[in-house]
Amino acid sequence: MELIDAVKGRRSVRKFKKLSIPKEDIDKIMESAIWAPSGSNRQQWRFIIVTDDTLKNKLANAIEDVVKEMEKELGDDSEIISRLKKSLPYYTFFREAPVLIVAIDEEVPSTSSRVMEMRTNYKCPISIVGLSSVAAAIQNLLLTAHSLGYGTCWMTGPLIAKKEMEQILGIEDPQHLVALIPLGIPAESPQPKQRIEGRVEYR
Ligand SMILES: Cc1cc2nc3c(=O)[nH]c(=O)nc-3n(C[C@H](O)[C@H](O)[C@H](O)COP(=O)(O)O)c2cc1C
Repeated sequence: MELIDAVKGRRSVRKFKKLSIPKEDIDKIMESAIWAPSGSNRQQWRFIIVTDDTLKNKLANAIEDVVKEMEKELGDDSEIISRLKKSLPYYTFFREAPVLIVAIDEEVPSTSSRVMEMRTNYKCPISIVGLSSVAAAIQNLLLTAHSLGYGTCWMTGPLIAKKEMEQILGIEDPQHLVALIPLGIPAESPQPKQRIEGRVEYR
């Protein structure tokens, strides 16, 4: 498959066939992830490949529990709760995928991040350099998975339960869970989304 065809043909897939994926294919996909560029070549990504249904369900349940807890706190007539309840299926469908890739950023002190903090108001436990590097690895793996006939979906909605999922998976500071990526044989064919014009400017 030509690279541009993989780029344009990849879609977010949210329904998967109940078929397992050969380990060699997962290895190929993950190899493409770790060949991404990274700030100062730190390769600060870490990935956990979850195939155990009990563990996937534990993670999805943790997300549902956060919504329930917030509902208790804010009341069921709150705007944020009604939005969260609508979004919840988009945060938990990964439990049906045969494979779940957990993407982690291991934060490394960086001079550029420190200088940025000193000179702007930008302060965040996850640095731009770390997150950008993991994001590049994620895009690589999405494209490679697509080129092998698999579907994926980059998910950050589940991070409403970041703390709880990190505890379940034993992810500790300076590591941060930054995305979940279900992987499987697509059981749906989503249509491409219209591209918004005018987002590229030449000067
Ligand atoms: C950083 C990021 C976070 C996303 N989080 C979610 C998510 O939590 N749940 C979900 O269903 N889709 C999620 N998506 C998928 C987007 O909804 C999807 O990429 C977008 O609608 C465009 O569709 P396409 O990927 O098929 O081109 C996310 C995508 C990105 C890049």
